[in-house]
Amino acid sequence: MFLIETRIIRADDEEGLSKAAQALKNGKLVAFPTETVYGLGANAYDPEAVKRIFEAKGRPGDNPLIVHISDKGQLKDIVLEVPENARKLMDKFWPGPLTLVLKKSDAVPDVVTAGLDTVAVRMPDNIVALRLIELSGVPVAAPSANLSGRPSPTSAMHVAKDLTGRIEYIIDGGSCSVGVESTVLDVTGDIPVILRPGGVTYEMIGEVCGKVDVYKVGAKAAEKPRSPGMKYRHYSPEADVILVEGENARVVDEINKQVSLAHEKNLKVGVLASEENAGLYKADVVLPAGSAKRPEEIASRLFDCLRKFDDLKVDIIYSETFGEKGIGRAVMNRLKKASAGKIIKV
Ligand code: TXA
Ligand code: MG
Repeated sequence: MFLIETRIIRADDEEGLSKAAQALKNGKLVAFPTETVYGLGANAYDPEAVKRIFEAKGRPGDNPLIVHISDKGQLKDIVLEVPENARKLMDKFWPGPLTLVLKKSDAVPDVVTAGLDTVAVRMPDNIVALRLIELSGVPVAAPSANLSGRPSPTSAMHVAKDLTGRIEYIIDGGSCSVGVESTVLDVTGDIPVILRPGGVTYEMIGEVCGKVDVYKVGAKAAEKPRSPGMKYRHYSPEADVILVEGENARVVDEINKQVSLAHEKNLKVGVLASEENAGLYKADVVLPAGSAKRPEEIASRLFDCLRKFDDLKVDIIYSETFGEKGIGRAVMNRLKKASAGKIIKV
């Protein structure tokens, strides 16, 4: 079923980029770099092309896509109104890792928004992405360019691994600088609500809007999740991920104890650690995610580490937890999802 020839284009290949942009406009699928993670783009006005995104990723049809624009002028075509808070946030954070949920116009097909009356919009802070969208001349619907459920891709190689044979183009723009997906913020009500934490932090939004809420799945029983994607197991490597949380020295002891137990069962064990602690573990594969003092560094390496564990075929992964300040909140959100709630508290 998936026998498409996938072409990889270098980001500095102007002619290649133009071709990919034309193909994108004409219904083909093009993966492209953004500052957060790679996106898998289709013409947002072309329902057939957008349907192909869901097929290529194996994504459930009830999980809506983000529409990417290169110019604020495109907003009037896809949303009904831009409330005051949204305007202020765009001025401050676009282009950048902030997705705004707004009331959609009729021009946006239902398949993009999974039938919701809102549409998520963002302007990525990446010159290759902006150029591709501009050259295509249309808004670009794009989820992260991974197979559904896998860690998001932060390099063209990650995309190629998941989607070769399923999509027409991959634009290689190197590694993504932020490394975790954008913040999804619902700005349709009086107080903005964070549906997914990401590159633009709670603190940063608070400074602009005064008040900001954080949406908790299942906070109100029987309520449908507002960001449908958050209900799925996500960001998961093939191995089970188990988080170990507590005071630093106890965490190190506990992980080493768990590693020994796993070794008795002949399992190959991975540990995801801060750079400061990495030398203290006796596992088969120890990956330093970055300094505990620099959450941005951990964010930028997180998905690459999770994918490396798979490449090295570990059976089980123990991970430290990291501070939730700033982008650390997004890091921990993704790690908790990857672990599907498996956490040892010491
Ligand atoms: O950084 C990012 O946001 C990347 C890059 C490629 O832009 N994209 C990305 O897309 O992470 P995706 O599809 O993996 O995640 C989109 C999230 C999902 O959780 C989805 O449910 C939510 O945004 N979403 C999309 N449209 C929505 C809407 N109208 N209302 C609420 N949530 C929405
Ligand atoms: Mg995704």
